[in-house]
Amino acid sequence: MEFFPDTQKLDEKRIIVLREQIKKHDNAYYIEAQPTITDKEYDELFRELQRLEQKYPQLITKDSPTQRIGSDAVKEFERVNHDKPMLSLSNTYSEVEVRDFDRRVREALPNEEINYVAELKYDGVALSLKYKDGKLDCAVTRGDGFAGDDITENVKTIRNIPLSVTNLKIDGKEIINFEVRGEVYLTEKDFLRINELREEAGEKIYANPRNLTAGTLKLLDPKLVSQRPLKFVCYYFDSSEINFNSHHENIKIIKQLGFQIGESVELYSNLDDVFAFIKTWERKRNELGFQIDGIVLKVDSIKQQEILGTVARSPRWAIAYKYEAENAHTLLKDITLQVGRTGIITPVAELEPVFLAGSTISRATLHNADYISERDIRIGDTVVIEKGGEVIPKVTKVVLEKRTPDAIEFKFPDVCPCDLKSPISRLEGEASYLCIHPECPWQIRRLIEHFASRNGMNIEGLGEKVVGQFVELGYLKNVADIYSLHQYMDEIKNLDRWGEKSTDNLLEAIEKSKTASFHRVLFSLGIRFIGEGSAKILAKQFKDIDKLKSATIEELNSVYEIGDKMTESVVQFFRNDKELEIVERLRTAGVNFKLKEEELVAKDMTLSGKTFVLTGELSSMSRGEAKSKIESLGGKVTGTVSKNTSYVVVGDSPGSKYGKALKLGVSILNEEQILEMIKN
Ligand code: IVH
Repeated sequence: MEFFPDTQKLDEKRIIVLREQIKKHDNAYYIEAQPTITDKEYDELFRELQRLEQKYPQLITKDSPTQRIGSDAVKEFERVNHDKPMLSLSNTYSEVEVRDFDRRVREALPNEEINYVAELKYDGVALSLKYKDGKLDCAVTRGDGFAGDDITENVKTIRNIPLSVTNLKIDGKEIINFEVRGEVYLTEKDFLRINELREEAGEKIYANPRNLTAGTLKLLDPKLVSQRPLKFVCYYFDSSEINFNSHHENIKIIKQLGFQIGESVELYSNLDDVFAFIKTWERKRNELGFQIDGIVLKVDSIKQQEILGTVARSPRWAIAYKYEAENAHTLLKDITLQVGRTGIITPVAELEPVFLAGSTISRATLHNADYISERDIRIGDTVVIEKGGEVIPKVTKVVLEKRTPDAIEFKFPDVCPCDLKSPISRLEGEASYLCIHPECPWQIRRLIEHFASRNGMNIEGLGEKVVGQFVELGYLKNVADIYSLHQYMDEIKNLDRWGEKSTDNLLEAIEKSKTASFHRVLFSLGIRFIGEGSAKILAKQFKDIDKLKSATIEELNSVYEIGDKMTESVVQFFRNDKELEIVERLRTAGVNFKLKEEELVAKDMTLSGKTFVLTGELSSMSRGEAKSKIESLGGKVTGTVSKNTSYVVVGDSPGSKYGKALKLGVSILNEEQILEMIKN
């Protein structure tokens, strides 16, 4: 009988090793912020685990890192009761009230020593996590405080939430059944990036990171949630397994279990230190990179907390000191209109420049006509602009006491601000006015800017100002004209601030852009609702512009992540003669409209970074054939087995390499398994 290795046992071992390694790296990356391997190396470990779990679905566990990616969409969330109500905090904006709070605490606990813990008040969405036997069992929103939505599948995608906890013993007892609570949030950078992508795709943008976080957690499709880099910070721990003494000790336990704790958690015995903490973070809150709306002050002793108890729905042992939203008063000099590339008209406040939360602001969005009329904002008014909680500055209200009779009411014009002055209209149910004239020069400018932008065709030298200049001079009427700019070479050279060198550079950059990847070209075309991500998906799926052009609604809709709005927009784009003409002109100019050879191959580089050793005879192909197939998928085939070998492929009558593989614990593949890996 043929001697056959127990591959499954080895794979099982490998799965466990991989899970542990990935968990370790997740912790280093997401909690400690000190990764020890490259993203590529991490991806390789992850993909290896995915492959092994695909092979042995029965070995998939709830806490495997692969289970974060997102399960199938659900129709609705289940309602779940909280073990203990999720309380809210009483708020104050005044130091005097904090002193009152302290007095009440001391009166209720005469002759006792009182210690406080001061923490940042993260401005996010509250969440409760329950762990059973060391594994994440259930994640529930705050809801009405007594019951919330079960959003476990969405929460599993949050990378700094451990799916299973590190082995931690306290007084000889393992901590495996407990609840933690905390706040889910997004960094300002991630918030801005997501909003930017949404805006490019013509989707609704969110007002602040908290809204975007809340919106994300409510998505019914965990796969979409997994694309947003949500974070979780933990500030509460409860377990019937041990007795606790103090909140700050609990915070230590939380950290040891593998959760992220607040950026600053301090234990104080006197109120003046607490005020110093409040002041420090009020000053430094702009540097955090995420939003806080105040600080939370908690009595440290759990026993004292129990004595103090709860009134209404707030604990008597804690208080939130809230920071005022950072704001400034300034003069609204004018309201101008901005036309986006999709024709949406946005009113913009032109302000007397003013310094606010780290930068000078001279313009702020007014969103739409309703926003202005609801707040009765008039030109010449002194207005309040705010950044607190919003990141993007906005005009929040008018300082009415300062209104003068000269203030002018703003009437939204009924024509586009461009020279064509075409009528603008409001689509039913939408707040924004829209210019639908296909030749609106403002839209064209935005479209060309978008086309040439860094994320688009990346044409250096063709920025906002230059596009404006060339549109005005009549050199550019649409994106295809970019590739005819060489006709105006002599004129451009003689323009103010242009010369031989800069003109040559521009033409060179234009020439280079012709080789941009298909998905970039697709994104650059400015099809409504098609952002960078969806352009990539469409490019990969349809491979060239002609296939995309002739795609049916059904075909488009069947592509995962391409929704109805996108489908309709793509179909309309390719039904529009003007757009088709532009596409043809771009094609004639030599712009790339198909997936490149290496991109086609790239999708199949599944074995990159893997080293294989072949031993014994394979029945379905020669070793040479197997070698070239592995190499074509990015893998490497070598002759000697070492601990760095990823797999040893074992055929009939294997040589000594097989024994060595067993000794070193290298994964072993039989013929069936290697065929599965390298099949087309
Ligand atoms: S303690 C009973 N600590 O603020 C105490 N809350 O209105 C429960 N929050 O619902 C909360 N950072 O969503 C606590 N360090 C922190 C916090 C924090 C943010 C949120 C939380 C809570 C709300 C209180």
